[in-house]
Parts: sequence; C-alpha cells; structure tokens
Amino acid sequence: MSRRLRLLAGTAAAALAAVAALATAAAAAAPVTAHDAARARLQYLQYCSGCHLADGSGSPVYGIPVMRGMLGRFLHVSGGREYIVQVPGVMNSPLSDADIANLMNWLLPTVSAATLPAEVAPYTAAEIARLRLDRPLDVMARRAALVERMGDAGATAPR
Ligand code: HEC
Repeated sequence: MSRRLRLLAGTAAAALAAVAALATAAAAAAPVTAHDAARARLQYLQYCSGCHLADGSGSPVYGIPVMRGMLGRFLHVSGGREYIVQVPGVMNSPLSDADIANLMNWLLPTVSAATLPAEVAPYTAAEIARLRLDRPLDVMARRAALVERMGDAGATAPR
C-alpha cells in the first residue's frame, strides 16, 4: 500500500471508530432507535460526515451547524421535526425515503441523546416521502425562526 493510501485508510478507520464510539454511547437511553444502525452509520459517513464531520460537530465557521448535543432541541419546537429532514443535505441526498428515516432515527440519539424529548415517534418512509413534497424555500429563515422559538438564539446558529 502506498504511503498516501495508508494515510487514507487510517483516516477512514479513525472516522469509523469515532462513529462507533458515539453509537455505543447513544445506545444507553435512546427514545428513538434505528431499524438498522450499521446501515445508518455507514450512510452517515458516506453522505453526511464530509460536511458534518464524523461526530456531528460540524464547522460553524463554514456555516455547518453543530448537531452534537444540539439536534434533539429541534424536536421540542413546532416545525422542528420537519425542518431537520427538509434541509438540502438530507433531501438532496440520493438516499431512499426508508434510508433517510432509518438514518435520522439513528442520528438523533447518536449525536444528541441528552436533548431529545422523552418520547420520539420514529420517522417512517411515508413521513419522509410526504416531507419531500413540501420543502422550505428559505432554509436559513426557517432555521432562524425555530432557533428563536427555542429561546436561545445563539446556541445552535451556524456562524
Ligand atoms: C455539503 C455539505 C452538507 C452535507 C453533505 C450535508 N449537510 Fe446537513 N447541513 C449542512 C448545512 C450548511 C446546514 C445548515 C442549514 C442549511 O443551510 O442547509 C445543514 C443542516 C443540517 C441539519 C439541521 C441542523 C441544524 O442545526 O440546522 C441536519 C439534521 C442535517 N444537516 C443532516 C444531514 C444529514 C443526515 C446529511 C447526510 C444525508 C447531511 N446533513 C449532509 C451541510 C451539509
């Protein structure tokens, strides 16, 4: 293996290990669980972690919000459940409705278990299909309104 390939392999392994550690931490008390966590974890790495990073910490300086320790807060405000799947990164992914539902059911407790409401109805493929037909035109305005409703505007705003 070339030096470059070894480096790449090492990075991928470290990313996988970080996501695996997160998944174990989340397993403790999850109000919502994925049907297929291994599939969700892999798809997160493939389609989301490039921007959101392996542990969901994002890059606020580049406008990628922090999901770690934050994401579940959207489920406490009306419209938040819809918003977090209607962002372009989710809706424009090539994933099927069923895979998006599975991924979100895994992502919420994995990155943000402590912020989730006590009970969360799992996303279903039918719900994702419905939300795909009705997406916000101005994502950042929708997000800002939700964050304001959370009563703590600075906390999750990507900057
Ligand atoms: C090209 C970069 C990029 C990719 C890839 C991406 N996202 Fe995002 N994501 C963003 C940005 C930027 C935002 C902030 C809202 C916006 O402008 O879309 C965001 C917002 C979100 C939010 C709402 C969180 C908040 O605080 O507003 C969720 C949930 C989310 N993304 C999940 C995902 C998932 C799951 C995937 C993979 C299927 C994914 N994203 C892929 C860039 C990305």
